[in-house]
Amino acid sequence: MNLRDSEIMRQMLAGIGYATQAATPEHADLVVINTCSVRAKAEQKVYSLLGQLKGNATDSAKQIVAVTGCVAQQEGSTLFQRMPHVNIVLGTQQIYRLADLVLAAEQESSSHTLATGLSSSFVIPAFHKLPFPAVSQQITDEEPRHKRFVNIMQGCNNFCAYCVVPYTRGREISRPLGHILDEAQALVESGVKEITLLGQNVNSYGQTNRVADTPVTFSDLLRQVARISGLQRLRFTTSHPKDLSPELIGCFDELDILCPQFHLPVQSGSNAVLRRMNRGYTREEYLSKVEQLLERRPEMAIATDIIIGFPGETEEDFSLTLDLLRQVRYHSSFFFKYSDRPHTPAATFPDKVEPAVASRRFQEFQELQDHISLERNQEYLGKTVEVLIDQINRKASTANGRTPTNHIVHFPPEPQHNQGDLVQVRITGAGRHSLKGETLP
Ligand code: 5AD
Ligand code: SF4
Repeated sequence: MNLRDSEIMRQMLAGIGYATQAATPEHADLVVINTCSVRAKAEQKVYSLLGQLKGNATDSAKQIVAVTGCVAQQEGSTLFQRMPHVNIVLGTQQIYRLADLVLAAEQESSSHTLATGLSSSFVIPAFHKLPFPAVSQQITDEEPRHKRFVNIMQGCNNFCAYCVVPYTRGREISRPLGHILDEAQALVESGVKEITLLGQNVNSYGQTNRVADTPVTFSDLLRQVARISGLQRLRFTTSHPKDLSPELIGCFDELDILCPQFHLPVQSGSNAVLRRMNRGYTREEYLSKVEQLLERRPEMAIATDIIIGFPGETEEDFSLTLDLLRQVRYHSSFFFKYSDRPHTPAATFPDKVEPAVASRRFQEFQELQDHISLERNQEYLGKTVEVLIDQINRKASTANGRTPTNHIVHFPPEPQHNQGDLVQVRITGAGRHSLKGETLP
């Protein structure tokens, strides 16, 4: 989501003359730090980055500094107090105003502008209604031309006990169906082959606000996007297991361009922990959904998110998480040590896990996941997969791209290959994080 927000901001800024990226932050006329506050570490990074910037700019009197996104939303004017060289603080729903506020800051170099309003009636602006629309539809050189993200909703109503997102991104609001289809259509017409639909919980698309004349589900949306002629691959993220409907599972039968990849965050393998996390499903219900997905597409690569050391997590709870990992054999997982976040119920929970214990569990988890990821990748040896080319380095004679299951594949390119081509690659090597192969004629 932050990647997509950064793209939007870059495109808006290109429209007011900030078109090229400075070699280093010190040389920049404008520094935008788009932030994440989902874990404490991400937030600390923002302050250390701002500390490094302070006074280092070639022309610090003129340099404009903007902090945007979740940390901006959460910290508000505290950012000005702690870091007076920050000029603009823009919350998650306000980033669309960045270009206007930068133009104002150019006139008044020491100004402080705060915009952190969060409204339950917010609508992500339509493409053509963005400020500086002349460039808003353009793809700048920073963005890949063959695969893009499309926002379908913002915010979250789930209030998982550990999570700051409902407070920083606000209540869940779905974008109007027509806006999404127009944006996806425009992207495909400009040459985009793969679209990833983005939302905190895509499964509840269209369930909390009206998005069209008749009620629309996420599955309806998928069917309509899949119909766009010329689109080759469709993905989405993220899905909350409790809202993963039979209808959505059925879409994997129906829609060929829906990639066999599923990011299904489980967070813990212990029912006691899941209950305290307020996740709304049990381990057994989760496993049943995984099984149903695999029945539709046995080749599907399933990934997950795990929190290690949630308050009160016992050795037994943790071993249930390891056990789940062995059972599902996730192709990959994103795992994090629990950290307290402001406003969240879990921050006040007793029985915090000792940092040394959390670190040991983290290490154990990592070793097991690495082992499973390697084994999973080895299953591809000798197979031929379709790869959408992301990057080509002609000098080094290397290229990489992604399979429908979202695995990264490295291979030597042929002269006729270009970014965005779909090629057949025979897999000859497998590491923990990527595959190696040779293209077939
Ligand atoms: N501590 C650690 N990890 C967290 N996540 C969310 N909140 C926290 C927290 N307080 C993780 C979850 C989520 C991912 C985006 O970040 O696993 O799925
Ligand atoms: Fe956070 Fe839970 Fe919402 Fe995901 S579903 S964004 S973890 S509150």
